[in-house]
Amino acid sequence: MVAALPADDAVPANVPELVHLSAGGVSVLLDVRGAQLPAVVHWGAALGELPAGQLAELALATAAQPIGFSVDAPVRVSLVPEQSAGWLGHPGLSGHRDGRAWSPAFAVTGWRREPRGRAADTADALVVTARDDAAELELELEVELHVSGVLRTRAHLSSTGEGTYWLDQLTVLLPVPEETAELLDFTGHHLRERSPQRTAFTHGLRVRENRTGRTGFDAAHVLCAGTAGFANRSGRVWGVHTAFSGGARTLAERTFHGRSALGGGELLLPGEIGLSRGQTYTTPWLYGSFGEGLDELSGRFHAYLRSRTGHPRSPRPVVVNTWEAVYFDHDLAGLSDLARKAASVGAERFVLDDGWFGSRRDDTSGLGDWVVSPQVWPQGLGPLIDVVRGLGMEFGLWVEPEMVNPDSDLARAHPDWIMAAGDRVSPPARSQQVLDLANPDAFAYVLGRLDALLRENAISYLKWDHNRDLVDAGHPGNGRAGVHDQTLALYRLLDELRARHPSVEVESCSSGGARVDLEILQRTDRVWASDCIDAHERVGIQRWTSLLLPLELIGAHVGAPRSHTTRRELPLDVRAATAIWGHLGIEWDLRTATPEELDRLAQWIALYKEVRGLLHSGVLVHGDLSDPAYDLTGVVAADGTQALYAITATATSASYPPGSAALPGLDQARTYRVRPQPPGDVADSNAADWGAGLPWWTPQGLELSGRALATAGVRLPVLYPDRVVLLRVTAVDPQGVSRR
Ligand code: DGJ
Repeated sequence: MVAALPADDAVPANVPELVHLSAGGVSVLLDVRGAQLPAVVHWGAALGELPAGQLAELALATAAQPIGFSVDAPVRVSLVPEQSAGWLGHPGLSGHRDGRAWSPAFAVTGWRREPRGRAADTADALVVTARDDAAELELELEVELHVSGVLRTRAHLSSTGEGTYWLDQLTVLLPVPEETAELLDFTGHHLRERSPQRTAFTHGLRVRENRTGRTGFDAAHVLCAGTAGFANRSGRVWGVHTAFSGGARTLAERTFHGRSALGGGELLLPGEIGLSRGQTYTTPWLYGSFGEGLDELSGRFHAYLRSRTGHPRSPRPVVVNTWEAVYFDHDLAGLSDLARKAASVGAERFVLDDGWFGSRRDDTSGLGDWVVSPQVWPQGLGPLIDVVRGLGMEFGLWVEPEMVNPDSDLARAHPDWIMAAGDRVSPPARSQQVLDLANPDAFAYVLGRLDALLRENAISYLKWDHNRDLVDAGHPGNGRAGVHDQTLALYRLLDELRARHPSVEVESCSSGGARVDLEILQRTDRVWASDCIDAHERVGIQRWTSLLLPLELIGAHVGAPRSHTTRRELPLDVRAATAIWGHLGIEWDLRTATPEELDRLAQWIALYKEVRGLLHSGVLVHGDLSDPAYDLTGVVAADGTQALYAITATATSASYPPGSAALPGLDQARTYRVRPQPPGDVADSNAADWGAGLPWWTPQGLELSGRALATAGVRLPVLYPDRVVLLRVTAVDPQGVSRR
C-alpha cells in the first residue's frame, strides 16, 4: 500500500513515515522518519502492495546493525550522506565558510509528496526540506519516480548566513544492493565514443570525472552496477546518468561497511560557487534506472524520454548532410546537384554543414561571424534553400555558436569576450577559442545573430556543434572559473532560441558525439553519435548510445564506400543496414555514386521509411549470443505484432557454421512469420562458392511460436565479417493473445 499523502503540503519532521513510490515495475522506498536526511531503503523491482506496517518491517529487515569500533548507532546513508551521521564514504556535500561549516548536519524540516508531469500522474515526487542552523544552510531534495520506472533526483542548496559558503561539490547518491558484483561504464575519444569498460565492483571509490567543459567523449554515460555476469537479458542491474553538459562526476562506491552506492553531480572548479545569503545552487538531475538485464534498464530510459512533451514525434526525416560530401567546398551548383541526387533517393532534409559564413573557408577562421559569406554565397542562402525546398526537402544549417576563431571579425572586435583564466591566452584547439556566454553582451550578440538567421531564411533545423574542450575557461576580466556559468548560459541560449522558433529542430553535435546527455536533450531533438560513420565502428557506438537513448534520437548516416575516418571499405548494404538503426541520414557525395548504388540506396531508404514507425516506437532488444563474432539487435512493436532484427557479423566466427540465436522480446504466446527482409536479405551462405545456403533462408522463411523463437531460436547464417542481414517478424495469429 502506498503511504497516504499527507494532508498538508508539509508535515513536521517527527511524524514517522516511510514513503513508497512505485511505478513502471520499480519501487523506491524512502525513509523519511526522524530528523536525519532521507535514505533509500529499497530501489529496484516493484515491491507490490505493502501495508504501512510492512513498510516499516521491511526497513527493519534490511537495516544494518551497528558494528564494533565504529559509531555506536547504525549509520544512515542518506541521499546526501553526511559524516555527522557516521558516514565516512564519499560525502554528499563538501564546502565551507572560511574553513568553518565543513561538516553539515541537516535536520529535516518538512516533506511533501506531489504528483508531477503533463497528466499530473506522470511522476510521483517526494520533496524533503532540511536545515543546518549552525552551518546556515538549507537543503531541498527532490526524488521523482516516473511512470516509466525511471528515478531522478537532485538537490538545491541555499545559504542563509552572512558571508560566503564556498561549495566544493554536492553529490546525490543512490544505494545499490551488495549483490552487485560488476560495474559497467563508458570511455571513448573522437571517432570512438561510448566504448564500454567492465570492472569488478570492489571496495573503494570509482569516480568518473569529466573536466572537458562539455559532456565529453569519455563521459561515464550510464554507470551501471549489476549482479555477476549481468547481460542484455539477464541479471539485475542499476544504472545512473548525470545529466549535465559541463563538468560532471559520476561515481560508484563500495565501503567495507557493506554499503554500496551510485551517485553523480557537477564537477565544480575552484571558486565557481560561492553562495551569499539567499542564493541557491541546484545540482544536475541524477537519473537512475533498474532492470532485469540491460534491455529492461534501457527500456525504462527510452519510455521516460518518449513520454516528454517535447520528444520528436513526427517521422524522423531522412537527412542528407554535406560535411563528408563536400567539406568546406561550397558552391551553389555543386550543392544543388547533391540536393537533387539526395531527393531522388528519398532524402527529406538537407543540412548545409560548416563553411557557409564569414571567412570560413577552412577551420582556421571565421567562427563567430554568423553572416552568410558574400564570397561563396553572393545571393545569400536563398537560392540553395529554394532548390532544396523545391525538391520537397527541409533545409537545415550548421552552427557552432559557443566558439570563435581568433581570426574573425568577432574576435578582433571583442577580444574581451573570449574565455581566459586571467591575462594569459588559453591554448587554442582546432584554431578556436570559447566565447564567454555568461557575458550578457556576448550572449545577446550570439542570440541576435542566430535569431536573425532563422527569421531571414526558411531554416527548419540547426546542427549545433561544439568543437573543443574548455581549457583555462575563465571569465575574462576577473579570471574566475567559468565552466558552470557557461553551461547554464548555453541552456538559456537554446531555451530562448527555441522559444522564439519553436518549430526549428536542433541537433546536439560536439566533434561528433561529445555532447550526449539528458539535459542537452531537454532542448535538442537528436544527437550526432560520432564523426565515425564506418559501419563496423558504428555497431558498438550506436548500441551503447542506445543504452540511454531511443533510436529516434541517434543520428546515423550512410557514408562513402571508403570511410573517411578509418579508411575501411564496406559495401553499401552494410553501411545502410547499420544506419537504419537510428535517425537515418546520408553523408556521402552522391554525385560520385553509380546508378546502381543510387538505386540500392533508394531501396534502403524506402525500407527505413517503412519501418521507422516501428524502430522509433518499439522496444529495443539485444541477444546474448554465445558467439562473440555475431551481434543481434532488434526492435519489437510495443503490442508485439511485429519486429525487425539485424544480425551482424562483426568478426570471423570461431564456429563454422555459426550456431543458433534466440529472438528476444517477442510475445511468447503468439505465432510469427520470420522472413529475411530485403534489401538486407543477402546472406553470404547463398553465394555459390559457399555451398547450398542456410535451409530456412528463403523468401517464405519460417512460421513459429514466439516461445520457440525465444528458446530454440533460429540458426544464424554464415556471414563474411562486417556483414549485416535483417529479419522481419510478423504475427500471423488473427489477433493478440495478451503479451508475455
Ligand atoms: C564536427 C562535426 O562532428 C562534424 O560533423 C562537422 O560538422 C564538423 N565539426 C564541421 O566543422
